[in-house]
Amino acid sequence: MVNVQMTSSAMKLLPVACLCLLACCEDTFADENGPVVVKEGSDVVLRCSIDINVESKLFDWKKDGQKEVFMYDAGVHYNNGRTGQDEQFRGRVSHFKDELKHGNASIKIRNTKVADSGDYSCDFPRLQPRKRFNIKLVVGAAPEPSIKILDETKDWSLLQCVVRDASPQPKVEWKDSSGNILPAVEPLIIERGGRFYITLNTTVTKTDHYSCVVTQEEIGHQTDAETYVHINGAASEPSVTTIKTDGVTVLQCVVKGASPKPKVEWKDSSGNILPVKDLKETERGDSYDIVLQTTLTKTDNFRCVVTQEEINHQIYAEIDLNINGLSAGAIAGFVVLSLLLVVAIVGGVGGGLYIKHLKKENREKYEEKREPQTEPDSSTSLKESS
Ligand SMILES: *[C@@H]1O[C@H](CO)[C@@H](O)[C@H](O)[C@H]1NC(C)=O
Repeated sequence: MVNVQMTSSAMKLLPVACLCLLACCEDTFADENGPVVVKEGSDVVLRCSIDINVESKLFDWKKDGQKEVFMYDAGVHYNNGRTGQDEQFRGRVSHFKDELKHGNASIKIRNTKVADSGDYSCDFPRLQPRKRFNIKLVVGAAPEPSIKILDETKDWSLLQCVVRDASPQPKVEWKDSSGNILPAVEPLIIERGGRFYITLNTTVTKTDHYSCVVTQEEIGHQTDAETYVHINGAASEPSVTTIKTDGVTVLQCVVKGASPKPKVEWKDSSGNILPVKDLKETERGDSYDIVLQTTLTKTDNFRCVVTQEEINHQIYAEIDLNINGLSAGAIAGFVVLSLLLVVAIVGGVGGGLYIKHLKKENREKYEEKREPQTEPDSSTSLKESS
């Protein structure tokens, strides 16, 4: 039953095929499925078949209309004595002997190279009409990009993305975490034997995850590398002061331009967190200004501690308030700014590549402030209170 059905459907197609054969003297079959795409180093089968036994026929595979890839003539071919094969394909091409009787003249190319990319033809020159099949092969090399930080200040970082040895030519772009394409200078493109070396720089001014995206549309390939950039707006040095209102002395700590949002606390010398009298948070873009006040109730050494856990960053400023010293009519404000450690550990996963960017900074700042005895606003009431 099944055989009969198949035969009858083949019969229906026959008149159409005959019309076609009569209309021309050579049948050329374009590559209907688009190019065959493989990764460099892999093997590829280039398909070609007709509906007769080809064991005793001649077929000839060529690249770009000239290079001899594989010729088979009734059992004699490039792998058993026939000469004329192009050097490029020596020892890398084979046919499927057992398939020949089914009309299958496909070949396999082993260990493909970028240089194997091109237009291949499978030709039956002795058939009437002559038959020729065309297949495009694209051998792609799709390396992963690498990211480097070329230069940085506290306000910006200069990022560099390098793609080596890619083929076909990729499009390289920098994107932020929202997928926006970043403005970049013209990429530097070097081509050597069909392989592309591309360098693309961009300067970023915001803390974010940035990725370098490499796209090779012809081979349907996209890969990226990611890095986290912490713009040092977070190296916010708090400024500590005393303010006096209605006979009450208030310790004030001001943090400017911190990103990500920090936790700000006043602590006494034993490390106790002091109650908040007033807290003002202002968001500007993606950075924060914070003003924290606490009421002064005793003689001690006080610290305003600013913590940004996400980036393992802590910084504090100290103020030493000595009531005895105050009774002499002076405030000795002793401020130490100590930037302890900035460690931004960053991880990014994308397209299979995992880049870690480790940024370390260890800076110390020492600052001493002595307020003049005649300083009007903070000294007067303290004098009275002693
Ligand atoms: C021809 O043979 C190859 C190798 O076995 C196979 O991959 C391909 O599908 C065959 N083609 C046809 C049309 O049968």
